[in-house]
Amino acid sequence: MTNLIQEFNIMRDDLDYKFFLNGEWKVSSSGIKIPIKNPYNNDLVGYIQACTKEEVNQAVKNAKENIECWENTPIKKRAEILKNAANLMNQWANYLGELLMKENGKPLNSAISEIKRTALIFDATAEAKSELIGTTMTGDIMEGASKEKISITYRVPLGVVLCIGPFNYPFNLTGSKIAPALLAGNTVVMKPPTEGSITASHFGVILQKAGVPSGVFNIITGRGSEIGDFLISHPEINMINFTGSSETGKHLAKIAGMKPLLLELGGKDAAIVLNDADINNTVKSIVSGAFSYNGQRCTAVKRVLPMPDIADILIEKVVEETKKLTIGDPSQNRNIGPLINSKQCDYVQELIADAIKKGAEVKYGNKREGNIIWPTILDKVTTDMRIAWEEQFGPIVPFIRVKTIEEAIEISNKSEYGLQGMIFTNNIDLALNIAQELDVGTIQINGQSSRGPDHFPFIGTKASGMGTQGIKYSILNMSRPKVVVMNLSEKGKLIRFCNQ
Ligand code: G3H
Repeated sequence: MTNLIQEFNIMRDDLDYKFFLNGEWKVSSSGIKIPIKNPYNNDLVGYIQACTKEEVNQAVKNAKENIECWENTPIKKRAEILKNAANLMNQWANYLGELLMKENGKPLNSAISEIKRTALIFDATAEAKSELIGTTMTGDIMEGASKEKISITYRVPLGVVLCIGPFNYPFNLTGSKIAPALLAGNTVVMKPPTEGSITASHFGVILQKAGVPSGVFNIITGRGSEIGDFLISHPEINMINFTGSSETGKHLAKIAGMKPLLLELGGKDAAIVLNDADINNTVKSIVSGAFSYNGQRCTAVKRVLPMPDIADILIEKVVEETKKLTIGDPSQNRNIGPLINSKQCDYVQELIADAIKKGAEVKYGNKREGNIIWPTILDKVTTDMRIAWEEQFGPIVPFIRVKTIEEAIEISNKSEYGLQGMIFTNNIDLALNIAQELDVGTIQINGQSSRGPDHFPFIGTKASGMGTQGIKYSILNMSRPKVVVMNLSEKGKLIRFCNQ
């Protein structure tokens, strides 16, 4: 293990992490370093470089200059390199997981799982290389065109892909962008989230060791507020795949220009619980869905809409189950740990206070220690409260009691978001009918909202995103068909037609 970890020393001087340009680790000429602190105990995890616009330019330039060499690397070779990277991630999962736990306060086991899940994505992306196979067509299926017109269509990369991941999955949701981008023959500029930069920067070492040539993969670190707009609007960036808040996503879409975008944004996923739902499964799904990583997931259960006959018992059992959650140190795998920073805690508390002021009942929680907010259950939430609509990104479950299925559908759909929805019932026909009515990317029947398995399509409607992710979908979105049309001459035709 020690030897493996020594491989990472190349990217840092003690606690000063560098950025990755053309295969080399560099210190920024800005002279500015950004401290990354553990959100649980405020310990320093390390410093990252605040890159300058000039360094951004350099990263994009390197990526652009290397498109041709990478595009001409056979697809099977690119796939092999992704597989090598997956193996390295698995070997280093414990080390990287521990670092991730320190950076973003995720329980250690979940942090290690995040690394291993990324390895699976790299592996499955390599396996999906046949998505890049082209097609041939003859023209004679359309009126007015003949068999002498033959198209040869194959998939080519888009160019330089900018991959920006979020703080809640800095390794996995950056990796899920990098793998399809590289497989499709694009070169990459990665801009990791500030909190998560250190772990995500390890992609530099991993990909280089796996066989990605210098300049094909570059990393820029720094505050989005300083270099973000410059990077996004950079004319040499050909495609952007971003995961983050809807607010940032909307801003990005405004300034990106005519670049294809793949955006995974916020959510306000609602669980509609019908009277005949399996209570144990529903309770388990709500508690796990709302409180994993303290609710800091775009797919977290963010509202529960129970029907009248099940509401009391459901809330009682959710409280009972929530009381079993352990709270505290992520290194000890406590279920509930710190939110990413104190600003986010203040926001979550603001939402709770607003709900209480307007008549919501606190059934459990509403306590804060440092950056930890206790899992909080609010009953009698009404649609005039902010928590009914705003994305909490924290451990709160608001129960909005509804009288009819129509009312549940209306409240679900009134949200500005459209990521996922849930329906808990034993009546599958009815569930499918409700699913038809919900304006979201995915509907889960009798299960919590979540992104995986990672080969499923992952989509958000309205403010929840743009485009479809998922292994095959991301590969297709990061490449395009290129068509060569052969126009054969009539001369020398050997074909005999059937007698009329
Ligand atoms: O935060 C957004 C992620 O895509 C959610 O992924 O459902 O696997 O936690 P997850």
